[in-house]
Amino acid sequence: MQRTEWKTVLTNLGVVARNPGWFLDYAFGGRKRLLSKIVLQSIAQVRATPPPGSLDEIARLRPVSTIGKLGAPQELLYHIVRFLSPARCVETGVYRGISTAFILAGLHDNRHGHLTSIDLPSARYLDSSTSLLHSSPLLQGEATGFVVPDSLRYRWSLRLGDSKNLLPRVLEESGPVDLFYHDSVHTYEFMTWEFETAKQHLAPMGVVASDDTNWNNAFRDFCSSSCVAWSTVIGGRIGVAQIGQESPRDVDVSTKKPEPVGHNSSVRSSSRQVE
Ligand SMILES: C[S@@+](CC[C@H](N)C(=O)[O-])C[C@H]1O[C@@H](n2cnc3c(N)ncnc32)[C@H](O)[C@@H]1O
Repeated sequence: MQRTEWKTVLTNLGVVARNPGWFLDYAFGGRKRLLSKIVLQSIAQVRATPPPGSLDEIARLRPVSTIGKLGAPQELLYHIVRFLSPARCVETGVYRGISTAFILAGLHDNRHGHLTSIDLPSARYLDSSTSLLHSSPLLQGEATGFVVPDSLRYRWSLRLGDSKNLLPRVLEESGPVDLFYHDSVHTYEFMTWEFETAKQHLAPMGVVASDDTNWNNAFRDFCSSSCVAWSTVIGGRIGVAQIGQESPRDVDVSTKKPEPVGHNSSVRSSSRQVE
C-alpha cells in the first residue's frame, strides 16, 4: 500500500471499519478492484437520492455515498450533470477516473451528452502535490481512468497530453462547452489559465467547476472578474460558477462555508488518444 493510501485509511478509519469487505477486495485485487467496487457502489447510492431542483439545493446536499464521506466532489458532479443536462463537458485531471465516472454516470442517466477528459500520459508515481506532478501518479498496471466502468465509457473521449497544449485544442474542436471541470494542476497560475481558457469556449450560462479551490484564490478571483450568474464553494473546497452573459458584478465567493452568493435557478438548461 502506498503512503498516501495509508494516510487515507487512517484519516477515514470509521468508514473503513464499517466496510470490512474492502480488506478482502484489496487483498485479492489490489486498489484497482477495491476502488472500482467503491465507485460502482457510490454511483448506485447517489442515483438513489431524489434529484435536487436547483443549484442552490445541490450546494446544500450532504454526501450520501460511502466515498462521498471521504470528501471527494463526485456526488456534486453527478447532480450538476443531471441538473444542467450538458451536451458537452470537458475535464482536466483524470488520474484513477473517480470524477470522470460520476460525470459519465450523470450523462448516461440523462441519455445525453459527451465528456472529453485530459490528463498526462501515465508513466510513474510521483508522491507529491498536484502542483508538482509531471505525470499521472498511477501504479504499474493501472491505466488513466481505470475505475471508469466499461458500461459508461461510450460517452467518453480521453486525450492524453499536457493540458497547456490540449485544452485549447479540445475546446476549439468541441464547440461551446456546457460544463468545464478542473482537477489538474492546482497552482494559482494554472487554475486561472484553465478557467479563463474554458470561459472563452463556454456555452451561454455554462458552468466552470473546480476541485481544491481552497488551495489558493484562483477560483475566487476568477469569479470576481467574470460575469457570474451563480457561484459557490461547497465544503470549503469545490467551486461551481455559472457564467452569465452580462458585465461582471461583485461576488463574494466564500472559501470557508458552502453558501451560494447568487443564483439563477431558472437556468436549465471511449476513445483514448495520446498527443
Ligand atoms: C488530483 S488528480 C485528478 C483526480 C481525479 N479528478 C479523480 O477524481 O480521481 C490530478 C491529475 O492531474 C493530472 N495532471 C497534472 N498535470 C497535468 C497537466 N499539465 N495536464 C494534464 N493533466 C495534468 C495528473 O496526471 C493527475 O492525474
